[in-house]
Parts: sequence; structure tokens; C-alpha cells
Amino acid sequence: IRMDHELKELIKSSIPEEKEGIEKEFDGFMNIFNKFLQASATAVDWNKIEPPAPDAIRLYKSLPTPETSEIRNMLSKLVVVKLNGGLGTSMGCRGPKSVITVRNDLTFLDMTVQQIEHLNKTYDADVPLVLMNSFNTDEDTEKIIRKYTGFNVKIFTFNQSRYPRIDRDSLTPIAKTCNTADNIDAWYPPGHGDYYLSFYNSGLLKRFVDEGREYCFISNVDNLGATVDLNILNMLLHPSPGHQKAEFVMEVTDKTKADVKGGTLIQSENHLRLLEIAQVPKDHVEDFKSVKKFKIFNTNNLWINLPAIKKVVDEKTLDMEIIVNPKHLDNGQNVIQLETAVGAAMKCFNGCLGINVPRSRFLPVKKTSDLLLVMSNLYSLKNGTLEMSPLRMFPTTPLVKLGDNHFSKVKDYLKRFQTIPDLLELDHLTVSGDVTFGRAVSLKGTVIIIANEGNTINIPDRAVLENKIVSGNLRI
Ligand code: UTP
Repeated sequence: IRMDHELKELIKSSIPEEKEGIEKEFDGFMNIFNKFLQASATAVDWNKIEPPAPDAIRLYKSLPTPETSEIRNMLSKLVVVKLNGGLGTSMGCRGPKSVITVRNDLTFLDMTVQQIEHLNKTYDADVPLVLMNSFNTDEDTEKIIRKYTGFNVKIFTFNQSRYPRIDRDSLTPIAKTCNTADNIDAWYPPGHGDYYLSFYNSGLLKRFVDEGREYCFISNVDNLGATVDLNILNMLLHPSPGHQKAEFVMEVTDKTKADVKGGTLIQSENHLRLLEIAQVPKDHVEDFKSVKKFKIFNTNNLWINLPAIKKVVDEKTLDMEIIVNPKHLDNGQNVIQLETAVGAAMKCFNGCLGINVPRSRFLPVKKTSDLLLVMSNLYSLKNGTLEMSPLRMFPTTPLVKLGDNHFSKVKDYLKRFQTIPDLLELDHLTVSGDVTFGRAVSLKGTVIIIANEGNTINIPDRAVLENKIVSGNLRI
């Protein structure tokens, strides 16, 4: 009741043109806030968890390739959606993450547009690109996408909701007015689970359904492996005899020790669903992390039937677990923000499937160490898509750790490499401290470079470091 009152007071401060939209957003917020208050336990009942049925997760290799003559028609049923609500702050950048330059002077967004343009050109198709922006990314994104006018890709944008951050103790909004500019820290985009409602409310969902489009392919804008896959689209549109069309397909991939925190698929009460670490009872967290027990994890590449989304929103059957995200603001305030994840809605759909895809479809760039890999000669760029070099002997990527203090911001990281080293034969790289790399350096096997406090290590031009440890004042 108190929250309801506080929100009404906030709405009074909104300008008339924005009032209706804000009321709609606050309805969505009240829903998840009430759920948060009621949910005494977000943890699942461990005893009810079963591994997915054997045919619930298909192997990518088993999917047939469509006839070329079919592809144009198949693509007329598709919409590509990129989750673009996040900022580049974790890599020390200002503005939307999607505008960070990744390779050959191209940003995540440039690469996405190139990929879809190539698809449209190759098959004489008209696949639209939809960006889900947030109040944090909308203005910059709108400015940037003007440069794609004239490209063979129609770009649509919509904004996800803006919810009020709440004080951790009083559980009331910290905002004093509805104007973001008055206190930007008082608001947050509530996670990518917000996609369903915001896409619906934007009117775009109805538009695409009316156009006869059937599926959306959703992925994180920073996953460079998330390209339109025609075999998966074919499977969705032409299910094997005796099978119904799947409403929700999640691309999963084999878990390695580096991915133990990723969500996994389980069978629970006859439904395939996503299980996130936050929902696991404390005494089962180690079980959850086990690579043997839970062999796969969610890549967040999702294929969802558009009329089915419309149905679950119309019928109000959407149900996603709430992620409680505590934050400590610069002014010392402790707040929480309530979020949802797009994959958590899987259980609300019928005919759900997982597809075990090759690791190459999961190439997220979260840190500058990921950036080092995708900028290097491990990959080449073709029509906006990264391809692993055939010269790499093993299909796995090297494990790279770059020191936080000197490398975590893109600007600092770039200054430390005169050119990106040759990584074709690298297995493992650890760099820590004040280290710089000259031109045309080659790193092979396991290389560890540690400059202790007060020391500087400059790796000279054309140096070849193979299974080497460089530390302190040691010179090579
Ligand atoms: P993140 O980069 O924040 O999440 O967002 P993550 O922890 O690595 O991965 P997930 O959440 O487990 O998948 C992933 C993508 O979702 C977008 C970001 O822009 C990024 O592309 N996102 C995130 C939104 O669009 N809205 C949000 O509220 C949060």
C-alpha cells in the first residue's frame, strides 16, 4: 500500500505526455514488487528437479540444412532482436555497450547490421533488426543508427521499462520526481526479462505478427557468436513429422569449468525450464556448478514464437523469477533493483526445446580479455561475422587474464598493445601490473607476465614468448 502511494506521488511529478506510459511501467513494477514481497523463497524445490528428457535437448549437428530455395520464404518469418539496454561501464566506456569498437573499426552494432544486411542481400530477404534500448542507451543509439539509413536492413527500436530503485531498508523508491535527469541513479532498466512486456507495449509485436512473421531470434548484443542460423530457423518452421512447432527454443552449449555460474535447463513438473544459480538452495550450489551433473548452460540465444508471446502477455501468464540485485550508490545509499531474465519465461511456453550448439555461437565480450581474443588473428571478419582461423590447431580459445588495474578499461588496454599479438598458438595468458606490448609480438603455449608494484615490463617488438614466465625486473 505504501509503495502504491509513493508511486502515485511520483506520477504527479510527470509531464502530461509521459503520464500514461509511466503508469503502465509502474503497473509492471508493482507486479514484480508484489511478487518480491510474497516470494518467501525464490529457491526451487531441489527434489522436484529432473534432468531434461533425452529428446528435450537436440544436438545442433542433427538438424537438417534447408534447401536454398526455401530460405527466402523462411527469412520472411523472422525478426532479429538485440538486447541493447546495457551500458559499456564495466569496460570503462561511456554510452551503450553496443557502440564499443570491436574489430576493424566496427562496433557490435556495425557488425550486427552488416550480418543482417548480408543475409538480406544474399537471399533477397527483408529481415528486420529490432533493438531493445533502455533509458540509458536510447538517445545515443538513435543518433548512431542514423548512419545505417540506406543500408539493406530496416531497423526498429523500442524502449524497455524504467523502474524505480528502492531503498534497501525502507523498500520505498529513492526518486523524488519522475524526471530521470533529476537523479539518474534513482532508476534502472529491469533486466532483459522486460522484453516481453515492453515489446508488446511498443506495438511492434502486433505489427510483426500481422505481417505474418513467426519467430524472433533474441540475443545479447555483445555475443558476437549470435548470428542468424538457418538450420535452427528451418527446424522451427518445419518441425519433424509428428512434432508441433516449438514456441520457445534456447541455445545451450557444453559447460566448461569457466561457465559454472551459467543457467542450465531442467525438467520440473513436466516442463522444460531455466534454472539459474540464484534459485538454487545454498546446500546444492556445488551440485549446480558440477560440469558432470549439469552439462550445458544457457547462451541467451533464444528463438521465440511471436504469436505465442502475444498470447502469454494477453493472458497474463508470464511468470519469471525475480532477481534481487543489491547496489551501493556513489552517494552511499544502499538500494535494491528487481530484475528478470528473458530465458526465465521458458516455462510459460509450450513445446520448449534446447539445442546444444557449438561453442562458437557463444562469444560474449564482457571484459577486455575477451576483446583481445576477438581483435586477434584467432579470428577473421567476414560480412560482420567472426570466423575462427583455420590455422588454430584446437577449436578452443585461449584462457586470458589481464590485470584489473592496468587493463580493465578499453582505453587503457588499447594503449598497452602497439599491435595485437599473434595468439594462434596461445593456450593461457596471464598479465598483471604495468606491462606493455610492442609490435608483432607472438605468444605461444602458457605465458605469464607479472610486473610487481613499481616495476614496468615492456615486451619488445617481434618478441616470441613461448611457455615463459616474465616477472619483476627480468628482461627477455
Ligand atoms: P548483461 O551483460 O548485463 O548480462 O546483459 P550478463 O550477466 O552478461 O548476461 P545475462 O544477463 O546472464 O545474459 C546481457 C545483455 O542484455 C542486455 C545488455 O545490453 C546485454 O546485451 N540488457 C541487460 C538489456 O537489454 N536490458 C537490461 O535491463 C539488462
